[in-house]
Amino acid sequence: MARMPIISGNWKMHHNHLEAIQLVQKLSYELKKEDIEAVEVTVHPPFTDLRSVQTVLDSDGIPIALGAQHCHFEEKGAFTGEVAPSMLAKLMVTYVITGHSERREIFGETDEDVNKKVKAILKHEMTPILCCGETLEEREAGDAETKVAGQVLAGLKGLSADQVQTCVVAYEPIWAIGTGVTATPQDAQEMCKHVRETLRGKYGDTVADAVRIQYGGSVKPGNAPDLMAQPDIDGALVGGASLDAVDFARIIQYRLAI
Ligand code: 13P
Repeated sequence: MARMPIISGNWKMHHNHLEAIQLVQKLSYELKKEDIEAVEVTVHPPFTDLRSVQTVLDSDGIPIALGAQHCHFEEKGAFTGEVAPSMLAKLMVTYVITGHSERREIFGETDEDVNKKVKAILKHEMTPILCCGETLEEREAGDAETKVAGQVLAGLKGLSADQVQTCVVAYEPIWAIGTGVTATPQDAQEMCKHVRETLRGKYGDTVADAVRIQYGGSVKPGNAPDLMAQPDIDGALVGGASLDAVDFARIIQYRLAI
């Protein structure tokens, strides 16, 4: 079964709402109808930009999906500074990144938090992009596979096979994020395959063959074609290069270089 590629731009804490509007409009000029038909594209601006970007996507009829970078798992309450999944759903957000290594490492999110978020995102009919990935120390110690499989299984704990099938998993080795160092296509493929086999072991063939797995970590126009050519890599979660409309468009158009 062919999996529809999915390429996502995680803008992190970059761009106010005016800059965000410009970026998404510029991106839409760069992309052709065939690009959007071949690849699902999502953008994940900061919370303060979501409403503006949603309005532009809607009014200009731009077929790019709106995503968020994070949410809380509770429906509402005394959680100063947090945003509930229902608030995102109401803004036509359809994808929510969860368990990003920056959230885990800087803000102390645990596997248990991530699991609650995955469930809350699904409850509001959005799709989680569940991130996993090892540090350089863990890789050098030979612990990468255990860490990544553990994060994936913990993040999906308690979900039905039907629910898991709809999720996206992003493998992002921490040592490759924002460093300019990309995992080689072979290393990235090996770990994405490991994620798929972990899913196969727990949920069976149908789920394992349906889940889309992204690679993230210094994806650029130059390395995207080789990464995307790997059998178990179905997409990319792009940070820095997604802030440049031309670079991000070239990544989305990776197939033209294959
Ligand atoms: P870079 O593409 O800047 O390495 O960021 C990757 C990432 O963390 C995307 O979520």
